[in-house]
Amino acid sequence: MADVDGLKVAKDYHVDKPFAKQGGFYVKGMADVDWGMKTRLSSIFNPESGRTVMLAFDHGYFMGSTAGLERLDLVIPPVLDHIDVLMATRGALRTCISPSTGKAVALRVSCGSSILKDDLSHEVIGVSIEDAVRMNAACMAVQTFVGADGEKESLDNLCKTVDAGIKYGIPTMGVVAVGKQMERTGRFFKLATRILPELGAHIVKTYYCEDFEEITAACPVPIVVAGGKKLPENEALTMCYRAISEGAAGIDMGRNIFQSLDPAAMAGAVGMIVHKNATDKEAYEYFLDMKKNN
Ligand code: 5RP
Repeated sequence: MADVDGLKVAKDYHVDKPFAKQGGFYVKGMADVDWGMKTRLSSIFNPESGRTVMLAFDHGYFMGSTAGLERLDLVIPPVLDHIDVLMATRGALRTCISPSTGKAVALRVSCGSSILKDDLSHEVIGVSIEDAVRMNAACMAVQTFVGADGEKESLDNLCKTVDAGIKYGIPTMGVVAVGKQMERTGRFFKLATRILPELGAHIVKTYYCEDFEEITAACPVPIVVAGGKKLPENEALTMCYRAISEGAAGIDMGRNIFQSLDPAAMAGAVGMIVHKNATDKEAYEYFLDMKKNN
């Protein structure tokens, strides 16, 4: 293992140079994965735009009913036309969501802490690979807690999920959690978003931050950006625009969609940025027009 003292600060990210090993498959870093893995990835990342809009409503696995998600059976269906992927727990999907949505599923498979605990970083793998196959998961989502007390367990959960997923052609998405004690700095996110793909994650979910284009350049797999806490719609769309402009392969938004004044309009506006290369201002205009007409 390299001695930590001798490590020099990385600085040359070649952000102007496209990823070199595309190898005929449009999803970054996935040239050599199996056919089945590629079909699942192509159900997540639109083959035209190469990007994705994920609707995250897996918050209940540790938060219980969240504002805006009190009734999944009511709030999710109106948004479906505007998103590509459902990020959810197996329980939410089986009880509240029709199996005929035609949307890809990013199945939340890690669990183990609730908001009653001070430290959320101790999780386990809570869904068997057999049930992920049964749910026809397009990928499996595992929370990772780099720098937190549960770091090792969470990275072990990730590796075990990657190993199980490879056997069945199911990609794994490593989710970067920001523990209370972790600052949302570029330095932290550069560390976390590189560890996860090095351990085998096929997709990384993280947050937008400064120097983001260096983060996307240094991460050899697609990065999707979480929305984070609720912002005014125009500010959330600006964050989306910056993330996509700086190399994100998609947006995985929860609260900023389902707590929006008009979730369907907001999801559509995010899709304008992700799939139509709209600017944040154009997307916000789209949001206002859709909201007015809804
Ligand atoms: C919750 C999650 C969510 O999927 C992720 O944070 C995206 O949701 P939001 O946009 O509300 O942050 O990982 O643990």
